[in-house]
Amino acid sequence: MTAKKANAKPKAAARKAITRKVTAIGLDESQSVELADKLNDLLANYQVFYMNVRGFHWNIRGEKFFELHLKFEELYNDLVLKIDEIAERVLTLGHTPVHTFEGYLATAVVKPAQNITEGRKAVTAILEAFRVVITKQRVLLDLSDVADDEGTNALMSDYIREQEKLVWMYSAWLGQ
Ligand SMILES: [Fe+2]
Repeated sequence: MTAKKANAKPKAAARKAITRKVTAIGLDESQSVELADKLNDLLANYQVFYMNVRGFHWNIRGEKFFELHLKFEELYNDLVLKIDEIAERVLTLGHTPVHTFEGYLATAVVKPAQNITEGRKAVTAILEAFRVVITKQRVLLDLSDVADDEGTNALMSDYIREQEKLVWMYSAWLGQ
């Protein structure tokens, strides 16, 4: 009787392992859907953030023009690299990245910035956008950890570390 009971557990576990659906890269399918959805949401925020920083690069005026014009170019070049990595991670997980302006604007928390010509306003908007994406990346860091999704986890870990440092530097520029 005891022996029969002891056998029951491994069999149930084996059945569960067989019925569990996995993706082409061996991740749980439903966890991958959630990760791809959250990555798409992150992508939407990055796209608006990116366009905002391009606008700051173009429209900035005043004595800090040369300094900020270059600094903003450096930032949007980094954002566009991350945009590509995030979109390609969605594809790697077996899903389609959002690829329309309508799609981005429908979900992004970062709002389009218009006619910002003053350096301090631009840097303040950049810090607000960093707070949004860093917070979303921390959620993805935890989720990817639970799903054993090392690829997404490593990306999020790098982004958080790099951007936390940028937050310090942009805050220091503001005198905060
Ligand atoms: Fe330029």
